[in-house]
Amino acid sequence: MPLLEVDDLTVEFPTRRGVLRALDRIALTIDSGEVLGVVGESGAGKSLTGAAIMGLLEPPGRIAGGEIRFEGQRIDHLPPDRMRRLRGRRIGMIFQDPLTTLNPLYTIGRQLTETMQTHMRPSDMRLSDAAARRQAIAWLDQVGIPAAAQRIDAYPHELSGGQRQRVVIALALCAEPALLIADEPTTALDVSIQAHIITLLKRMTREHNTAVMLVTHDMGVIAETADRVAVMYAGRIAEIGPVRAVIRAPAHPYTAGLMASIPSLEHRAERLRQIDGAMPRLDAMPAGCRFHPRCPRVFDRCTTGQPELLPAGATQAACWLHAHD
Ligand SMILES: Nc1ncnc2c1ncn2[C@@H]1O[C@H](COP(=O)(O)OP(=O)(O)O)[C@@H](O)[C@H]1O
Ligand SMILES: [Mg+2]
Repeated sequence: MPLLEVDDLTVEFPTRRGVLRALDRIALTIDSGEVLGVVGESGAGKSLTGAAIMGLLEPPGRIAGGEIRFEGQRIDHLPPDRMRRLRGRRIGMIFQDPLTTLNPLYTIGRQLTETMQTHMRPSDMRLSDAAARRQAIAWLDQVGIPAAAQRIDAYPHELSGGQRQRVVIALALCAEPALLIADEPTTALDVSIQAHIITLLKRMTREHNTAVMLVTHDMGVIAETADRVAVMYAGRIAEIGPVRAVIRAPAHPYTAGLMASIPSLEHRAERLRQIDGAMPRLDAMPAGCRFHPRCPRVFDRCTTGQPELLPAGATQAACWLHAHD
């Protein structure tokens, strides 16, 4: 049984001019210890997918269809207090801006020790303050904060952006979640430290056998980190499969376009090659395949029928090129 199963997840925003469907029947799974990359241009629905799983959709956004199961249990319509407990203990989160997670009024040591002490299961022995402090120093050390025994008493504003995100990783992992949802965890950071943070996240989650949903708009990050990848476009999954297969032989023309936009290692900071055109707005979705107006391989069928995920070599792609009827 997969750790997380998302089936036909549909998210809608009612507006005065009608209902906007922001996610349309998203289906994906994540196994224990696995890293699933979720990639796609801005506005594809990556953050909404993460928010829906965590029970953090902001009203009036709502889950209008489908199921989310975690450890075999439905979690898509849990009461808020049960969802909050699940988020504290079993599902961790890392957001783009570490300052949304860190409390500016408390030292990083206090935030780590409180997290460890409140997320312990009732069966655990209470963690003494001294033991919690020792463990907090060990966590800071593991995530690469220099002189951890001194830095533990620092406030968030006394750290650099990269160090803050290291603390956020420690804070997320010290509760020992089974699943970590990381939404663009390096996007706000200096380019020179992004790779360090991604490497750290990968190493730490592997050591703790944490499953990860890693949301990013950077296919290069996915290539270096993920086991499998889901490519999203306009609220749908365009392609999903093992990362090597998707990179070697992308089955969806949109994935192929994203692949062409990976900057080479030497030219990290250079402007990416973009796919021509823009993603359609939610209130102006084209008929047929939502990518067809930008697709270099468009043909008649694409303009009328919406393709579902179809087997395409070692991956699955929602593209009529792979229909054999
Ligand atoms: N509160 C909201 N009200 C209406 N539309 C929203 C809201 N939040 C997100 N959306 C829309 O949902 C789509 C997906 O957004 P999001 O998941 O944030 O994209 P991504 O994280 O891939 O950049 C976008 O078209 C966005 O405009
Ligand atoms: Mg986002």
